[in-house]
Amino acid sequence: MNRGSAESLLAQARTAAAAAYAPYSKFRVGAAVRAGDAIYSACNVENASFGLTICAERAAIFAAIAAGAKCIDAIGLSCIDAVPASDTGLLMPCGACRQVMAEFAEPGLPVYVDGAGSFTLEQLFPQPFHLIHQR
Ligand code: THU
Repeated sequence: MNRGSAESLLAQARTAAAAAYAPYSKFRVGAAVRAGDAIYSACNVENASFGLTICAERAAIFAAIAAGAKCIDAIGLSCIDAVPASDTGLLMPCGACRQVMAEFAEPGLPVYVDGAGSFTLEQLFPQPFHLIHQR
């Protein structure tokens, strides 16, 4: 399987979710980002001071950028504790993560959401805030 394919990114996101530190919400999330030929995966990491929690998507994107990637080309995410067939809102990336995606991706970024389908970033977040440059 191509490591950057939708199926593979989702599989890597599920694997990453298993490492989540989510003792408060008990809601484990994993994300896998493709940047060029490299894949970066991460999970949500919570904190007793709740606002310090980092989502899986942002952790994975920041790992990619910290490793030298300039932009991201695809992202897969999986909420492995979401009840199957429940409200798809449970499965979708939060608004903060969508804004961070917009910082580092083109509007056509493929966002693969386990159990909910494939979207472009533009579909999920049509009018991002841009301070420095307009895409
Ligand atoms: N969470 C994510 O990791 N990504 C999202 O897009 C939404 C929420 C995490 C944060 C927190 O640890 C748990 O899910 C419940 O909100």
